[in-house]
Amino acid sequence: MTAFEPRSIRIAPSILSADFARLGEEVRAIDAAGCDWVHVDVMDGHFVPNITIGPMVVKALRPHTTKPLDVHLMISPIDSFLDAFAEAGADILTVHPEAGPHIHRTVQHIKSLGKMAGVVLNPGTPAKMLDYLIDDVDLILVMSVNPGFGGQSFIENQLRKIEAIRKMIDKSGRDIRLQVDGGIDFTTAPRAIAAGADVLVAGTATFRGGPDAYADNIKRLRGG
Ligand code: DX5
Ligand code: ZN
Repeated sequence: MTAFEPRSIRIAPSILSADFARLGEEVRAIDAAGCDWVHVDVMDGHFVPNITIGPMVVKALRPHTTKPLDVHLMISPIDSFLDAFAEAGADILTVHPEAGPHIHRTVQHIKSLGKMAGVVLNPGTPAKMLDYLIDDVDLILVMSVNPGFGGQSFIENQLRKIEAIRKMIDKSGRDIRLQVDGGIDFTTAPRAIAAGADVLVAGTATFRGGPDAYADNIKRLRGG
């Protein structure tokens, strides 16, 4: 990619904002509406103050889309659950450094399962955390809200972190996706993209208006 070529933007709707009673249908609807990845927020009521879904639900959703299942794990301790999510059909496993004792080992474990390995930084976690991980990860996720709930407001100073990590990635020369998650809407999406993000997670902004609105919502988030 040259400096003048626009970066291709991927949209990953967070199914946290979907109708949980019709989850398979909702995944088919966002797939048909043109999403790139399906973002699955896994919460344990311990690492974050909310409980959502586990590997059984990931497995149940797998036949409903051929698009990558992007599984954001907000559970602790993390390591003993990685195999179950891989077997359930996840394509990307993204982990918080605070969720286990040895983040480097956790990343190696994900890679040994043949999955894309992501590391996610909470709003208070510095970019420096990546210094000795960047050579191994496939994805870096910047949380622009504190994890646990959809529908929160975008934390402005995370744009600086995205800019800093974009520089780190470009310097590394590695093919690493830079994802942002939390409070992404039609106003914050272009700002996150300008800062260097190339994968946008959006729950509220994708699912607002029901299935008839999904295609337009995704297009607008992409900047189209
Ligand atoms: C928060 C989750 C997010 C969240 C995004 O812990 O990781 O994926 O659901 O929701 P919105 O887009 O509504 O801020
Ligand atoms: Zn998420």
